[in-house]
Amino acid sequence: MFTILMGILLLNPLNSFSQDSTKSNTLEMNKKDSIESKIDSLISIMTLKEKIGQLVLYNGSWDVTGPPSDVGNKEKFEKLKNGGVGAMLNVTSVAGTKELQSAVMKHSRLKIPLLFGYDVIHGYKTIFPIPLGESASWDLEAIKKSSAIAAKEATASGINWTFAPMVDISRDARWGRIMEGAGEDPFLGAKIAVARIQGFQGDDLADNTSLAACAKHFAAYGFAEGGRDYNTVSIGEYELHNTILPPFKAAAKAGVATMMSAFNEVDGIPATGHKELQRDILKDAWNWDGFIVSDWASISEMIFHGYAEDKIHAAERAIIAGNDMDMEGRAYEAGLEKLVKEGKVDEKLIDDAARRILKIKYDLGLFDDPYRYSDETREKNEIYTKENLEASRDVARKSIVLLKNDKDILPLKKDVKSIAVIGPLANDKDTPIGSWRAMATANSAVSLLEGIKTAVNKSVKISHAQGVALGTGERNFIKELAINREDTKGITEAVNIAKNAEVVILAIGEEAFQSGEGRSQVGIELTIPQQKLFEAVWEVNKNIVVVLMNGRPLAITNIAEKAPGIVETWHLGSESGNAIADVLFGDYNPSGKLPVSFPRDVGQIPIYYNAKNTGRPSNAEGLVFWSHYTDEKNEALFPFGHGLSYTTFQYKSLKISAPSFSSGGEITVSVTVTNTGKRKGKEVVQLYIRDLIGSLTRPIKELKGFELIELEPGKSKTVSFIINEETIQFYTADKKWEAEQGDFKVFVGGSSITELGVGFSFNK
Ligand code: NOJ
Repeated sequence: MFTILMGILLLNPLNSFSQDSTKSNTLEMNKKDSIESKIDSLISIMTLKEKIGQLVLYNGSWDVTGPPSDVGNKEKFEKLKNGGVGAMLNVTSVAGTKELQSAVMKHSRLKIPLLFGYDVIHGYKTIFPIPLGESASWDLEAIKKSSAIAAKEATASGINWTFAPMVDISRDARWGRIMEGAGEDPFLGAKIAVARIQGFQGDDLADNTSLAACAKHFAAYGFAEGGRDYNTVSIGEYELHNTILPPFKAAAKAGVATMMSAFNEVDGIPATGHKELQRDILKDAWNWDGFIVSDWASISEMIFHGYAEDKIHAAERAIIAGNDMDMEGRAYEAGLEKLVKEGKVDEKLIDDAARRILKIKYDLGLFDDPYRYSDETREKNEIYTKENLEASRDVARKSIVLLKNDKDILPLKKDVKSIAVIGPLANDKDTPIGSWRAMATANSAVSLLEGIKTAVNKSVKISHAQGVALGTGERNFIKELAINREDTKGITEAVNIAKNAEVVILAIGEEAFQSGEGRSQVGIELTIPQQKLFEAVWEVNKNIVVVLMNGRPLAITNIAEKAPGIVETWHLGSESGNAIADVLFGDYNPSGKLPVSFPRDVGQIPIYYNAKNTGRPSNAEGLVFWSHYTDEKNEALFPFGHGLSYTTFQYKSLKISAPSFSSGGEITVSVTVTNTGKRKGKEVVQLYIRDLIGSLTRPIKELKGFELIELEPGKSKTVSFIINEETIQFYTADKKWEAEQGDFKVFVGGSSITELGVGFSFNK
């Protein structure tokens, strides 16, 4: 009887609904109803054990992204055949995913297809810039495109679910995972989250080039105390709503298929067991219908948090809190059946979790064809293509930020007499691939030296010296990092070639696995050998361009004072060297802007532009009693939104359409931007507001809009932004999102330190 029922379920392919495009809304609703009724039928015939099976996510060891499991592969395979597993992670390739899917389809009673999840963070095999770097492009279309390409490659290799985007706001460069997010700002973070989700998920999850996305880590993971990964988070309710949650809310609104709970506790409650966050806010208040997966063993880790006695207790807390799927925690399989039987957990909660998971499987079209992501031809033809590499180069150059360019040292001429390309990262083909590199081949990036050689005229004399060593470049579990390794023997050679060169390009920074999960640091300076290398080279040649490659903001105050040219290139991915050369030699005019503040010193952390004013913001009295450090400035070395171009932009004629607006109304702010230089260039026009008095204190500036424009030399453009209630809303002292009556200031400019402003007011 069950086979017949499954037959009926499968005989109704969703594809048949999508043929008539003119009735798309009705069809969408029909499709939804149809999925709902299929889920109803399926749930009604599932045993409790089978439903719990859907809530289990096992690791498949093709890649290592967490502590090794205590269950062997053979045992996992048996469970999977018996319907005891709903999804796998870290299984890649068509062959691998097919093998497991067919075990389920052949042996399990209900033949419910598996999800295959993987950390496709910034590319699958063609690697794009690390997410923090790509965020510096402020180019939502480019970001969407890179996620779409990553999805295309991953789905060609059996994957149907990515654990991305990470949408955690972070203001702490010590935290290794700052590389994986969009930086410090909730507004920019929300926009980028949506672009990434749209790229991964495409227009329709049922398209076999779309991946189900996963917004993570819910919530506040980026606020780990001291920047130490997995550490405690204590933030207030208002900060949670105003700073942490906006990107998640935007992700929910954009229809992200899944979210991942976080390892950390939030004010005493582990996020994975946090009912208010998961059930009350995300599922109820936001009415989001995807499913929540735990992070790796984060359910059973509630035992270590001191929030659960054992796995059974942890399972109880997590399922009640609204966490639907257990990643590698073994808690749901250990506890849920018992808990339901003892009446401690209502079976309805299990049903709800299973329904949410089944829905995504239906949305992905897996019930129509469980092998739809297992296409050898696609795997052969659609991965690491020339076209994808070109796209990677394009996003990479858009992500580069020109931090400093004194006396227009850049762009360099392609016919300079000689260039000394120096530094541990100058000819490194691995570091630019960065952390979270999915299926990238080690050492497969175009190195900077290679990129430079291709870009310049044949007549240019290029010399190269590494100078000092950097880390090992090993993929995982680096025990000993290169920090402060006193290996400075090569400096002499570097100095020699620097002396004789017209210009020095010095590539320094961090190796690939210095940032990423579990890679927190107490310091954010360059290693001592690299600092020595800079000083020695600087002594003999002042014509020096520093190319930084790094996964986090670095405190490079000394270098910033001396070097005339500094280019921030992050870890740019497969085409790194070509993209950097495009910028260094002027084939691309840099347009990136920092999505995160660069501190002058680690002691300033957390540092972010949208801070509060405090009660003592200035030293008007000339005394010591104001909010400051006595040994360093308050300001960032390079602020949020900063980034230069080879041309210059002038902002003038800031106008506001009316001095005030009321509920339901709006005003327009406009500014004229002129390219006052000699080259065509792009500029990110940024709009900030300040709410002068609120029911809660408000940040001194908050990004509320931006537009990426391109201008020919001498040309101007008037850029307009609409300000309405939504622009000025925040989570107020009344514990709701609303606009408060009062006076505001609006600022427009090319970085967060712009002072070009005008006032307006809002009346309720
Ligand atoms: C732990 C990480 O925190 C999470 O982001 C990742 O998706 C999982 N491991 C799976 O690799």
